Amino acid sequence: MKNGIGIAIGLLFIGTIIGAVQLTQKMSVELPEKQVAAVSKSSSNSLTYNPPSLEEVPEGPIGEAITYGYKLVNETYSVADPYVGNNLSCASCHAGAGLDKDSSSLVGVTAVYPQYIARSGKIVTIEDRINGCMVRSMNGEKFEANSDELKAMVAYFTYISEGVPVGADIPWRMTNDMDNVPTPNVASGEQLYQKSCIACHAADGSGTDPNTGPALWGDNSFNDGAGLARISKMAGYIKNNMPAGSEGTLTNQEAADLAAYVLSQDRPEWKNHDKDWPNGGKPNDIMNKERREEVKNGTINWEEVLSKN
Ligand code: HEC
Ligand code: HEC
Repeated sequence: MKNGIGIAIGLLFIGTIIGAVQLTQKMSVELPEKQVAAVSKSSSNSLTYNPPSLEEVPEGPIGEAITYGYKLVNETYSVADPYVGNNLSCASCHAGAGLDKDSSSLVGVTAVYPQYIARSGKIVTIEDRINGCMVRSMNGEKFEANSDELKAMVAYFTYISEGVPVGADIPWRMTNDMDNVPTPNVASGEQLYQKSCIACHAADGSGTDPNTGPALWGDNSFNDGAGLARISKMAGYIKNNMPAGSEGTLTNQEAADLAAYVLSQDRPEWKNHDKDWPNGGKPNDIMNKERREEVKNGTINWEEVLSKN
């Protein structure tokens, strides 16, 4: 009991100090705010994209972990088969195992975690974030906290993040959101899909190969709790990265039509939608089962789906 009181007083004391420090920091930062922003902007622009080569991984256990991590990210569906619930690799979306600068690059990612993620409503570590993609994008299971797989992935991401300062504002990070998505036309999306996408992703969306033409819908694709199940992210991803080899040729309207078509097809369901964004701010453009039904029976209200809150 005595100890408990001691700890409580101690905590109170520490709390006061932290409060005071925060206050002084706030006071000293508030005035030159513009200047500070300008400085951090120019420093982010000077970040160069220069991940180290996989041919230079160090010898020994850490090198082995990095190489295993690379293999896991590249061939997740087979190397981590017991954990993966579909037929995708991390590289199905993070092209080149996260090394492709323009396609959801993961270079620098270990420098920006832990961070607060609104979808989880809490501070998320890099391990949590990897597991977030495991249960949503891979429609699978989390790796155990101390597993070789999780350690290897973190070793790999740490390796390719070398040289990126902690907390850096990384210019190639999160570049696939489309800000103002035009009202989509699903029928046009379907026509365009048949013309420009089936060679790699198959007419029924089931894909031809996890790394050269991954499944876009159906049992072997991501579930509707994944980031790409949102129209804004899917449209941005398609616009920036597809069709592979001719990327950058689609208009925003075409990318939106394609995104709406792809996301109105059946896919695995995420069971915990109601637990996401626990502190509010849940986006409206998540294409869950209800939305897919609305597309099918013609009652979807795109204005509402695309509205921001
Ligand atoms: C179906 C596509 C898809 C697959 C497959 C996928 N991811 Fe992701 N991942 C995304 C998207 C989209 C984002 C960005 C989410 C956002 O904008 O909030 C993301 C974000 C991340 C982030 C956070 C990046 C950052 O800068 O904060 C990490 C780490 C990550 N993914 C790791 C993985 C790993 C590891 C795998 C494989 C186990 C994987 N992802 C599989 C689509 C995917
Ligand atoms: C030449 C083959 C090719 C064509 C054509 C192509 N893709 Fe892809 N697609 C890929 C590859 C390869 C990936 C894996 C990521 C990467 O390497 O860029 C991918 C990944 C994707 C993903 C994310 C992964 C997933 O499983 O959801 C989406 C979404 C996507 N493509 C949509 C499209 C759409 C829409 C079109 C038509 C406009 C299209 N693609 C045309 C090869 C292609």
